[in-house]
Amino acid sequence: MEKKIVFASHNPDKAREVREMLSPLGFDVLTLSDVNLKQTKEETADTFEGNSRIKAEDIASQCDYAVLSDDSGLSIEGLGGFPGVHSARFMEGRHYLEKNKAILEKMEGMTNRKAAFVTAMTYISPDRTIEKTFVGRDEGVIIDELPTGEQHGFGYDPIFYSFALKKTYGASSDDEKNAVSHRGRALKQVVSFLGGTNNGTDTGNR
Ligand code: IMP
Repeated sequence: MEKKIVFASHNPDKAREVREMLSPLGFDVLTLSDVNLKQTKEETADTFEGNSRIKAEDIASQCDYAVLSDDSGLSIEGLGGFPGVHSARFMEGRHYLEKNKAILEKMEGMTNRKAAFVTAMTYISPDRTIEKTFVGRDEGVIIDELPTGEQHGFGYDPIFYSFALKKTYGASSDDEKNAVSHRGRALKQVVSFLGGTNNGTDTGNR
């Protein structure tokens, strides 16, 4: 019997990635739209882990399925972790071309260009006895200038050079990026946890 799990996001691209990884384990991945639920709590934590817990607990309090949430962003060492948990809200409403330009301007002349993309994912079991948060990071640097060629991906992808890929996310295909990305790494930990025993899913055939 398929085990249902609610992925606490409306983003269909993320949901597709999660579905691809979890369906081989017998999970039927539902989005918030599928179950007609909404996030009701604000993301007030100052860490990705904290915000992913807020989202997961919020959705878990509204249904009795297993829940998986995610929270992610870019953390730039020389800017004290900025934009960090504010990655989505930084210069809200403006195009990412402008946001990326603004970041490069903030970093002009800065020699420490270390940065990481980070994802925290929180799993809550259907019987609510297990809550576990997994963190995936991909380390790299912020490049000096906006790239001129055609870009793949979204958000801050064009300005992040991944050490693992030896190129920017913007210059990488989806498959290349997913293999090493923060989200990919967090998801692999979730898969390995859910693929094991004692993860609380056996009570969840609802
Ligand atoms: P979310 O919490 O995963 O929706 O991401 C928050 C924000 O972080 C996004 O709106 C993007 O600005 C940024 N972000 C997260 N992951 C990525 C990525 O893989 N590439 C580029 N930007 C990202």
